[in-house]
Order: sequence, then C-alpha cells, then structure tokens
Amino acid sequence: MSKKILLEKIDIPDIREYEVYRKSGGYASVEKALKTMTPDDVIEQVKTSGVRGRGGAGFPMGLKWSFIDRKSGKPRHLVVNADESEPGTFKDRYLMHHIPHLLIEGAIVSSYALEANLSYIYIRGEYMWIFKILEKAIKEAYANGWLGKNILGTGYDLDLYVHCGAGAYICGEETALIESLEGKRGNPRIKPPFPAVSGLWGEPTVVNNVESVSTVSWIINNGGEEYAKIGLGKSTGTKLMSASGHIKNPGVYEIELGMSVDEFFNSDEYCGGMMDDRPLKACIPGGCSVPVLPPRYLFKTANGEDRLITYESLADGGFVTGSSLGSGGFIVYNDTACIVRNTWNF
Ligand SMILES: Cc1cc2nc3c(=O)[nH]c(=O)nc-3n(C[C@H](O)[C@H](O)[C@H](O)COP(=O)(O)O)c2cc1C
Repeated sequence: MSKKILLEKIDIPDIREYEVYRKSGGYASVEKALKTMTPDDVIEQVKTSGVRGRGGAGFPMGLKWSFIDRKSGKPRHLVVNADESEPGTFKDRYLMHHIPHLLIEGAIVSSYALEANLSYIYIRGEYMWIFKILEKAIKEAYANGWLGKNILGTGYDLDLYVHCGAGAYICGEETALIESLEGKRGNPRIKPPFPAVSGLWGEPTVVNNVESVSTVSWIINNGGEEYAKIGLGKSTGTKLMSASGHIKNPGVYEIELGMSVDEFFNSDEYCGGMMDDRPLKACIPGGCSVPVLPPRYLFKTANGEDRLITYESLADGGFVTGSSLGSGGFIVYNDTACIVRNTWNF
C-alpha cells in the first residue's frame, strides 16, 4: 500500500465542506507557518522536501521559490496553475473537486512563504463547476479568518481569487497563463525574464501547479525531511497519476514515486492490466506531450532495468527509448488503436 499524502482524507464523507475539512485537521499548516515560522523557514522546509513541480517539468519547488525577487520592493504573487490542459491529465480536477480546501490551505502557506499579498488560481474555462466549488471554498476561508486582513492576528494579509480562462491548451504554459490573467490573448512570453523576476503585471510571480501547491501543507505539518523519506532518490514524495485508455481500472491514483511501471500497470489496486485482456500496443506515461513507449520499453529500460515511476527512470533513454513522467497522464492503448490517428488527434 503506497503512502497517501494528497488523497489521505479523500474518503472522509463531505470532506469538500469547510467544517469537515477543518475537523480533520485542515488549516493546521497555516497556523503553524504563520505563527511559528518565517517565510524563509517555509521555503527551507519545501527545499528540504525535494518536492518537484507536478505540472510537467519537474522543477524543484523550493528552488523556484528562492528565485523570487524580494529586492525590487514590488508586490509578489503566487499563481496556481489549474489550467490542466494536457490531454490525459485529470488529477488536478479530482483534487479540486473533492478536497478544494487542501489547495486553498496550500496556497495560503505558499503565498506566505513568497510574502505575496495577492494571489490567484487560474482555472481552465471547461472546469466551470469546479470554479464554483473553489469560489465557495474561498468564501468559507475568508469567513473563518484564513484569508483577508491580519490573518490569525499575525499581521499577514492575503487576498486569493479564482480566475477562469476561456479554454486554451497554451494557457497552461505559465507565461501565456500570465498574459491571459492580465486580460490579453494567451501568447507565451520570451524568457528571460522569468516570472520570478517579472511575472504578473511585471511583478515577481511564482506559478505552481495545483498538485504541487496542495502538497505544501503536508510538508509544513510533517517537515521536509519526512517528505524526503518518501519516494526514491531525487524523485521524492508521492505523485497523482491519471490513468486512462484500455485498462481495467481507469482513475486517479496516488503512488509513491519509485513504484515499478509493472506494479502500477498490472496490480488490481491501480490500472488492473489490459481491458478485455487484449494485447498492449503502447503507453504514453506522462500526458500527451511526452514520447510514446512501446511495450518493450515501458516495463524495462533499454539497459534491461525495471522501469520505475520516477523522473529519472521514465526519462532513461531520452526521446528514443525513454519518455518522461510529465504530468502523470498515463494513457494506455491496445492493439486496436492507431498511433498515427491518435497523434493526429493530439
Ligand atoms: C504548452 C504547455 C502547456 C502547459 N500546461 C500546463 C498545465 O495545464 N498545467 C500545469 O500545471 N502546467 C502546465 N505547463 C507547465 C507550466 O508552464 C509550468 O511549468 C508549471 O505550471 C509550473 O508549476 P510546477 O513547477 O508546480 O510544475 C505547460 C507547459 C507548456 C509548455
């Protein structure tokens, strides 16, 4: 049984509701961070955890936070990337739909670490029902003193807004997302400057994925060192996998990084093997942007080692005999699928 961090409370009835979430220990990380830690302490814990961004690129989260420009004196922002536009990826939707307060709690602690007083959640246009769930949850957070002025009497102020996009794949790319948030067409910007120096309205901004931000509360409650004990090597912690296609059990699963592809693919606890026991043709292990793997390179690397679900192992072999963990969108095809047609569709 893999350790659960993000989905630990998912089976508690009505966990979407504020009262239930709070009773389950929710918002404890905000109390701990704001009352007992400095923003630098929070950044240090996230660095120690080794957690890497879950939006696709896998960039170390604490390191990204440490790049934020604090010298310019300009306002800073956290922007949560809830665009989830990568085909085959539906884990952020799952989190926000079932346990929205986990994201809001993580966004408050993350904003505090960045010393941001105005932060946003940018959500794709097709997720209108989740937009409403988040708006309600944010209202509850304001009503209970977790957002707004002088949070918990600590002098820290934070406003958090949800902004709805119009539904465009490119708006998941962080600089296009920022353009869109500013009210413009979602065209990517040339980098540098990176958003940590010049982001939203030219102000220092950190963009992080929903899953990344939702992980922060556990790290603060339990410590970065505890988090770093989970997973394998530089792939610390757990990862949400969106499993779809010709498998017996499609769905969202939280796994400890380091699990073998074989276990994830064949175990009844996860994908459960091929639907109707038809032959496997190919798998895209990390969302549509990553290379397709044929069966011989899915379970073993070109060197004959077991393929593991880590950033390193899935990338072993590069774009020829390897792929990437990407956003964790695990798409499986049986022998009836046409890879050319599928690629054309993408
Ligand atoms: C074309 C394109 C689309 C992207 N779409 C998403 C997306 O839907 N969600 C997301 O979190 N990141 C997406 N990204 C990655 C973001 O640019 C950015 O790296 C990410 O939000 C950073 O968060 P993280 O460090 O927590 O992963 C996309 C990148 C590209 C190039």
